[in-house]
Amino acid sequence: MTGQPIERETSSPHRVLQKSLDLPCGAVLKNRLAKAPMTDTLGNGEGDSTEAQVRVYEKWSEGGTALSIIGEVQVDPRFPENPGNLVLGANSDQQALQSLVKRALIEGVHLWPQLGHAGARSHQPVSEPKGPSALEIDGLQCAGMSVEDIQELPDMYARSAVCAKNAGFSGVQVHAGHGWLLSQFLSPLFNRRSDGYGGAIEARCRIVLEVVDKVRRAVGPSYPVGIRINSTDKLEGGLTEDDALEVVRLLDQTSVDLIDISGGTYFPGAKEISDSPNQGPYFLDFARRAKGVTNVPLMATGGFKRREQAVGAVASGAVDMVGIARAMALDPRLAKVWLTEEGGDPDFPIFESAPPGGITDWYITRLLALGDDQEDEFKLSLPSAMRLYRERADQHSVQWREKFSRPAVSG
Ligand SMILES: Cc1cc2nc3c(=O)[nH]c(=O)nc-3n(C[C@H](O)[C@H](O)[C@H](O)COP(=O)(O)O)c2cc1C
Repeated sequence: MTGQPIERETSSPHRVLQKSLDLPCGAVLKNRLAKAPMTDTLGNGEGDSTEAQVRVYEKWSEGGTALSIIGEVQVDPRFPENPGNLVLGANSDQQALQSLVKRALIEGVHLWPQLGHAGARSHQPVSEPKGPSALEIDGLQCAGMSVEDIQELPDMYARSAVCAKNAGFSGVQVHAGHGWLLSQFLSPLFNRRSDGYGGAIEARCRIVLEVVDKVRRAVGPSYPVGIRINSTDKLEGGLTEDDALEVVRLLDQTSVDLIDISGGTYFPGAKEISDSPNQGPYFLDFARRAKGVTNVPLMATGGFKRREQAVGAVASGAVDMVGIARAMALDPRLAKVWLTEEGGDPDFPIFESAPPGGITDWYITRLLALGDDQEDEFKLSLPSAMRLYRERADQHSVQWREKFSRPAVSG
């Protein structure tokens, strides 16, 4: 059973991170460190992978992580989070996917795309956003989904999961966090429906369970299916910890293999997901509560900056896996470093008064440098990083519109 405190070896406590983890489906993660999903904008603007993206994932795999999750991969090109993301569908460039799989699925590493749909927060320049409910507030306007729209979702996620499996990825993560579509359904801030998909948390969670169920049936019992959820939206009127605990309880009744606990939401006025004034790790108290209601292996992501924090989280039994985003952008070999006797922690940059979105943009441009093997020379200031990010998004938007506004050619 997972979640038991692991006996900490007093002389080499980091060894708890070296232990493998069995997932309910039978797959094995070789250690307790995962590269958390990060949108890298390294797609080609048409939803397909590029050499630079392959290179970044290759680096993380060589760097010793047990699990590498590809940041938001779109299940529907009409509703992307970013036009630099991948799309997993019948028209995906199979050769590009094969290259990604071949170079990153090495050394026993698991590579899972994070299946996402941005819903109400779809990238405006290429999308007509649609969420659980129509919203008209400052900074967020979207249409509301019909019941038919909602009922299409499980098949849509399942189709992308099958594409992932056929392309050779070793599992998938369903994205139900951070204020993207499935998280919007869970959140009363976005979900104001009064039908069977809105209201109490059981109803708000219904579509999430339907998606998980359809994905599982599509990929079979022995293929890893994970999910990312919020422990809280961190906003007044959003998903609370008590409701999130109910979500965990409901997921416990499904066949998910790994619940990745995160928090925070993209909503007007909300703080950045990645950074928090708290020292971190951010979500361990919730993970401990979640352990009380599920036997599904748990991962927590957020605020792990030093090895001793990861060791403590796993050794205490609060979580089974530790998810790491920014520290692995700073050092793609971090897992290997933390798994060795010697260890060593990355130096985090300090940003004074970063504008909204600025820190994430800076890390994204850091990923671009990794993809070009330019990380040693990487010195971008926050304003330059934000400018570069915007320019790329504009350029990708043009390509995305060109590709996806045309009807697909059949046959
Ligand atoms: C550049 C960047 C891109 C991100 N993109 C995603 C994403 O696509 N999907 C997601 O669930 N979280 C995304 N996140 C959030 C991270 O997965 C993670 O939850 C957050 O950064 C906190 O972890 P950390 O303290 O280890 O950075 C992103 C974070 C960063 C820095």
